[in-house]
Amino acid sequence: MVSKERAEGYFESLFTDLPAELSALESAALAEEVPIIRKESQNVLRFFLEMKEPSRVLEVGTAVGFSALFMRYFAPGAKIDTIEKVEMRLVRARENLKSEIDAGNIRLLEGDADDILKELAVKEEGAYDLIFMDAAKAQYMNFLPSVMKCLKKGGLLISDNILHDGDILESRYAVERRDRTIHARMREYLYEITHREDLYTMLLTEGDGMSVSVKK
Ligand SMILES: C[S@@+](CC[C@H](N)C(=O)[O-])C[C@H]1O[C@@H](n2cnc3c(N)ncnc32)[C@H](O)[C@@H]1O
Repeated sequence: MVSKERAEGYFESLFTDLPAELSALESAALAEEVPIIRKESQNVLRFFLEMKEPSRVLEVGTAVGFSALFMRYFAPGAKIDTIEKVEMRLVRARENLKSEIDAGNIRLLEGDADDILKELAVKEEGAYDLIFMDAAKAQYMNFLPSVMKCLKKGGLLISDNILHDGDILESRYAVERRDRTIHARMREYLYEITHREDLYTMLLTEGDGMSVSVKK
C-alpha cells in the first residue's frame, strides 16, 4: 500500500519553485497562519489554469491575496474577481494586490460572498471560465446555486479543503460537536456536485482534498 504522505513528500520535491514574489507572499502568509492553498492544491490549480487559459476567474475567499496572485501568474490572460469579507484580511489583500487592482486585472469584491454571489449571478451570468471556491466550508452548499449561474458552460468549478483535515471521512459522531455542521454541509455539497446532471465532478485527495467539476 502506497503511503500518501511519502508520495506527497516525494512529489513535492519535484515541484518547481514559485517565482520570488509569490514565494515571499506565501512565506509571509504562512508565518501569520493565514490558511492559503497548500502546495499540492497549487499544483492542481495551476494544471487547470494552464490547460483552460481562462479569460475570467472568480475566487470565493481571497484571504490576503496569495491564490489570486498565483492565478494571475499562471493564467496571465485572466481577469480575476475575488471575494473577501474579513476586514483584517482585506487590509492585507488591498496591499498585496494593489498593482494588479490598479492595472484592472484583479477586482477585490469586499463583503459577504453570499450577497456578492447573488448579485454576480444576475450581473455576470455565465461569465466565468473558472471558479475557485475557497471560503467557509459550511457555506459551499449555500453558494452553489449562484456559483452555477456565474459559471460558463464548459467552465470549471474547483473547490478546496473538501476533506476538512480528514473529518469528512469520519462518522458524524466521531467529529467534534462544533465541526458537525461543516461535516454535514460538506457531505451534502459533495453529494450534490457528484449527482447533479449539469456537472461532472472528480474528487481528489491532494492537499486537504479538492473537487474539480465541469459544467455540462
Ligand atoms: C482558506 S482562506 C482563502 C485562502 C486563499 N484562497 C489563498 O489560498 O490564498 C478562506 C477565506 O475566505 C473568507 N471567507 C469565509 N467565508 C466568507 C464569506 N461568507 N464571504 C467572504 N469571505 C469569506 C475568510 O475570511 C478567509 O479569508
